[in-house]
Amino acid sequence: MKIIASIQELRHARALLPGPVGFVPTMGCLHAGHVSLAERARAECASVVVSIFVNPAQFGPHEDFAKYPRDLPRDLALLEAAGVDLVWTPAPEVMYTPGFQTWVTVEGLTAPLEGAQRPGHFRGVTTVVAKLFNAVQPQKAYFGQKDAQQAAVIRRMAKDMDFPIEIIVCPTVREADGLAMSSRNTFLNPDERKAATILFCSLSAAKDAYESGERDAEALRSILRDTINAEPLARLQYVSCADYDTLEELEKITGKTLLSMAVFIGKTRLIDNFVIE
Ligand code: PAJ
Repeated sequence: MKIIASIQELRHARALLPGPVGFVPTMGCLHAGHVSLAERARAECASVVVSIFVNPAQFGPHEDFAKYPRDLPRDLALLEAAGVDLVWTPAPEVMYTPGFQTWVTVEGLTAPLEGAQRPGHFRGVTTVVAKLFNAVQPQKAYFGQKDAQQAAVIRRMAKDMDFPIEIIVCPTVREADGLAMSSRNTFLNPDERKAATILFCSLSAAKDAYESGERDAEALRSILRDTINAEPLARLQYVSCADYDTLEELEKITGKTLLSMAVFIGKTRLIDNFVIE
């Protein structure tokens, strides 16, 4: 496995890789969710490239950029075991050179949900992913359903900007008790870790109601809200029952639907979602 920091070396090494090339962009502090993306790429592509870059541009001024967890030696061991060919670990000054002022923005899809709570977040995500795509030039790129809106936004960007890259969205990997794996779970103390299962429990309760015939979107949002509010360590930021493609809030459920939420457990902000259809 090659480990590369500069963009020139990355381009050179990339040119020597047999195609198709599969690419998994990450911010490191890897867990089984990230590894599942690398393994899927390994199964489907001749070469696998993973990037590790904690992207300052997608963190708000009061968010956790400085304390975002980092553990490169552990990450590299996990990627080596997953059979990754090349890991790109650019420094911030490699991605954002002095005078940087070009941004990629997706409009409508970034307005609700995470976009509404985290102004500028998706502008940072789409800009960095566009830059990563340009440097790595993969045939396939792998994203997690865990970040459902991000996956939708990247799919839109790739289509609108004519990136010749197939965007593949992979299922959310969970802990045994249902908590979606996330680098931010490392911030939870033992009580908060227990309380954090409330996200999965509330999504499961709403899904059960849907499966029993409930089609009123507000009724499902109420189930999500009430379940979260019953957990003393949880503070709800939003719940949503939205059209899977447009991310617009629904009144009645008729097709593929995204149930999603953001919840603070203590100081840690967690997101999760289920797709129902
Ligand atoms: P990061 O949070 O490191 O996630 C990298 C990829 O792993 C994303 O596609 C994310 O959806 C996926 N992922 C995270 N947790 C997962 C889980 N439990 N199961 C399955 N997949 C999971 O998302 C980012 O980084 C950044 O925004 C990035 C796209 C790298 C741009 O900076």
